[in-house]
Order: sequence, then structure tokens, then C-alpha cells
Amino acid sequence: MTDLKAEAFRGSQDFKTVLGDLTAGAFVREGFEARFGQVNVSDRPDLADFQCNGALAVAKAAKANPREVATKITGHLSGDAHIKSLEIAGPGFLNFVVSDNALSDRANALREDERLGASIVDTRRKVIIDYGGPNVAKPMHVGHLRTAVIGESLKRIFRFMGDEVIGDAHFGDWGYQMGLLITAVSDEQPDLPYFDADFAGEYPAQSPVSLSDLERLYPLASGKGKEDPEYRDRARKATKELQDGRKGYRALWQHFVTVSREALIRDYGALGVEFDLWYGESDADPYVAPMVEELTAKGLVVPDQGAQIIRVAREDDKSEIPPMLVVSSEGSAMYGTTDLATIKQRKVEFAPDLVLYCVDQRQATHFVQVFRAAYLGGYAVEGQLEHAANGTVNGPDGKPFKTREGGVLKLYDLIDSALDKAKIRLNEAGLGKDLSEADFADTAHKVAIAALKFAELSNHRLTNYIFDLDRFMSFEGKTGPYLLYQTVRMKSILRKAADQGVNAAVVTVTEPAERELVLLLDGFDSALKESYLKRAPNILADHVYRLAQTFSKFYAACPVLIAEDDATKSSRLALVDLTLKQLEKGLDLMGLTAPEQM
Ligand code: ARG
Repeated sequence: MTDLKAEAFRGSQDFKTVLGDLTAGAFVREGFEARFGQVNVSDRPDLADFQCNGALAVAKAAKANPREVATKITGHLSGDAHIKSLEIAGPGFLNFVVSDNALSDRANALREDERLGASIVDTRRKVIIDYGGPNVAKPMHVGHLRTAVIGESLKRIFRFMGDEVIGDAHFGDWGYQMGLLITAVSDEQPDLPYFDADFAGEYPAQSPVSLSDLERLYPLASGKGKEDPEYRDRARKATKELQDGRKGYRALWQHFVTVSREALIRDYGALGVEFDLWYGESDADPYVAPMVEELTAKGLVVPDQGAQIIRVAREDDKSEIPPMLVVSSEGSAMYGTTDLATIKQRKVEFAPDLVLYCVDQRQATHFVQVFRAAYLGGYAVEGQLEHAANGTVNGPDGKPFKTREGGVLKLYDLIDSALDKAKIRLNEAGLGKDLSEADFADTAHKVAIAALKFAELSNHRLTNYIFDLDRFMSFEGKTGPYLLYQTVRMKSILRKAADQGVNAAVVTVTEPAERELVLLLDGFDSALKESYLKRAPNILADHVYRLAQTFSKFYAACPVLIAEDDATKSSRLALVDLTLKQLEKGLDLMGLTAPEQM
């Protein structure tokens, strides 16, 4: 468990903080600890905006009457300009309703604030986020989509909150699948120079294999490797020779890596996912041998039935954690070995304070093994390595998502079909009619990506959810397209206002729908902090969705451009502008972009 307390923020100016500080002061004056003054958003918005339960906790400890304690606290608070009413409810809850003036001030302050209300981390840390985890030649599927989308959002949230963040694709470019590919190519094109034992490194810049060759060869070779022991042995031998540095194999492998990476960068780019680093598993390879030596000298790596392992079980383990396999009986380094060496490599090259692994929950034991081995080896301290696991994307049958043919759906096919669906949906909804062909295509692309990504992000990362493109693509409900639609509406109000010469100016909150909107805008910082602390973009996704919904209510209740007087027009327009800014920031932190028009 991470020590969440170690992750503190500064600069919060939201009502939770302001009312919390006031209330804490009141508790202190009554001789109680400040922490009892904590204020939260009320779970009964019909009764109050904010609430404090401290009097109950204090009274319990002091064996006092909670309502009496609450009465004393309110005595210190009444008359404060932030508070419109403060009531004691039930056994001793404090119910706050904030004043219209305080809401107006808050809205005006948010308009001035570049960070739109967001606080910032107290201590800037260096954070590596290991996500995506694509592999050379193996096509990406919906599972890879999930880690990419969640990791990308966490990267943006962490960066926005002030950390120095490095997003690493941790490219799967090493190991047995490379030997399989070399073997397959050597069977198809045996005359290539790469297979000469004395290959000297002169090779054509042009790759002998294309992406489609790789995609065709990999399943073929993988199938053969499973059926044919002789083929498997050849692939294993090729893997070993590649790793040992055979020149021709390295040259050929470099082509595989380059061709795959180019295609992946393109697919990820279409998704709005960008890595800062494309380090491969191969990059950790130089660290493996010295690491094994070092850990053997420390007595951590020990022989076991011809293989070499690290024992990582702990006495208080609830379920058995098997030893981590470091070197197989055939002498090869394993998946865990690569991850461990990568930890060492990252320590040497980046010295990160925290590494987050956005990887499938099904690899949980693997990470427990690797992390413990790293702690034992002194490559990291407890809490520095974290598996921010994600659940499975299921089909309508509740099992891991497959296409009708039974295969996994490839990422670019998925993006394509989402794009087709987006176009159909836009047409059905009568949207985008006035757009040029190019603008329509751009809007459809943004809608498609928003549908796919928001479906991921609106679920908690550990939730196993059902992949249902039709539902994701709806313009109603908690969907990406709905968010974009509301964003575009706001943009169009601002454009109309500009045409009519109406300018945004000081916000004056009077109407209930305005109150509700400002209270929500005020909650941005909390949503961000919680997303950050829990590594859970769904909390931000929820905020953004509620913001869009609340805007829609506001706009229905409070006309902007046809408001009764100029001051009201300008005030409401300022709210639209502020809401749009926060909404777009939220979308950006989820890796989404809204079109200008629809
Ligand atoms: N390439 C792996 C896979 O496709 C995921 C890598 C995850 N990251 C890591 N550091 N192990 O399953």
C-alpha cells in the first residue's frame, strides 16, 4: 500500500478546504483536534451543500452530547460570509449552505485561475508510468486498449498535478516470439544475408518483411511452435542466439522492431496515446547478467531443480506466492527477469520516486514476485512500485472479448469499426450536416475515439466491463459522444455571443441552477486529487460527466443570450466559458478532444 498521506497537495481553495479550515478552527477553540472539522460535500444536496460529522466523533470520544458540541461549533461559525445557513441535523451533523456571494466569488476566482481550481502536489516527484505494453508482431487487442487508455489518462493527470512523468511503452521486443519470427523468415526467405553465420552487418535499409508479413508470420510460427517440437527447438535456439548477439539475427530483429513500432505509433496516435519512451524489454538485457550475478552473490538467487529462482514468499501471505523464476533450466532469462532488470535500469537511468504499472490484473502475482525481488535486491523501496491493475474487457457472454470468428479484435479494426459507427450515429442524430467532408471526418473520428476511451475511463480500472460499441456510441447517457456534444454546444454559444458582441464579465450567482453549476465547478480539485491518489481516472470521468449534465440543466433553466439584462447575459456567459474550459481540461486529462462543430 502506498502511503497516501505522503502525497500532499497545496493551493486548494475549494469550499471543502475553506469551510473545513473555518470549522477546524471552531473545533480547536472548543478544545478539540482540528481534524474533526473536516467538511465534505453533502450527500443530501436537497438539504445542504456541505456537511461536517465531527461533532459526533468528538462527542463519542468525550462522552458528550453531540448536539451540544455541534451547537457550540455553530456559535463560532455563524455570521461568516461564506455561509448562508448552518443547521444542526439529526444526531449532530452540521449542514452548510454556502452563500450566493461566496459562490459568485468562487466562480470569479476560478475564471482568473489558470489551473481552473486544481491544486498542485506539494513535492514534485519523478514518476514512470509503464503502460500499453504492446509486443512486436503480435496484434494489439481490446485488452491492450484498456491499459493504453488508462495509462495515458493517469500520465496526464499526474503531470497536471505537478509531477515529472515519463510514459514508457515497455515494448515487448525480446524473448521467444522473436525466435519464432526469425525461424519463420528463415524458412520463407532462406537466401537473405541475415542467416549467414559470418554476416558482417551490411544490410539493405529496406526491411525484408512488412507489417503484414509479420502479422501473417507470427500466428503461423506460434502455431507451429506449439505443434512441432523440432520447430520449437529451432525457435528457442534462434532466441538464444539473438540474445547472445548473433549479428545477422540482431539486424533482422531490428527490422521487426522498427516495422512494428512504426505501426504501433500510428495506431496509438489515432487513439491519442503518446509515449515518451519506447524502451523495449531488450533494453534491459544488458542489465540481466550482472544483476543475476549480484543477486547470486547476495544469496538471493538460488539454484532450484536446474533453474535459478528467488524466494519471495512471506509469512503473512494469505495465498501462496511462488518463487520468481530468474533463469530457466535451459539458461534463458524470463519475463520476470526482464521486469526486474528494467527496475534496475530505471533506477540507474531515471531514479524514479514511483513506478506505476498499468497492466492486466491477471498479472498480479507476477508483479508481487517482481516487486518483492526488487525490494530484496535493493533496487526499490517498498511502496515505490505499484501495480495499478485493470480488469478484463468482456464480450456480451461475460467472457474475455472475442470477435464473432472467435479471434481477438485487433486495435485498428476496432478503431475502424468505431469510426464507421460514429458516422452512422452522427447522421442518425442529424449532426454534422453543415460540415465539409474533411470536418465531418474529423468530427467522426473524435466521436469514435471519445466513445471508446470514455467507456474505459468511466469504469473503475478493475471493473470487468462489457464491450458494447452501440452503447458507447450513443449521444445520450454517460458516454463520450454525449460529453463532446455538450462541449460543442458551449462552443457554439460562445461563438454566437461573439457575433452579438456579448462579452463575459463578472459572475453573479442567483438562480438554483447557477448555484449547482458553480458548486460542481468547485469540485474539480477534489475529483483530481482523488483520481491521483487512487490512480483512478474514473473519478475525474465522473466529474466531467456531471459537469456536462449540470451545464445542460443550467442552460435549460437560465437562458444566456436572451437573458433579461446585459449584466445577466455577461455573467451567464462567463459561466459557460468557465464550464467549457474546465470540461475541455477534463477531456484533455482523459486523452479526449472535442471538435469545434458537430
Ligand atoms: N507485453 C506484455 C503483454 O502483452 C505486457 C507488459 C506489461 N509491462 C510490464 N512491465 N511487464 O502482456
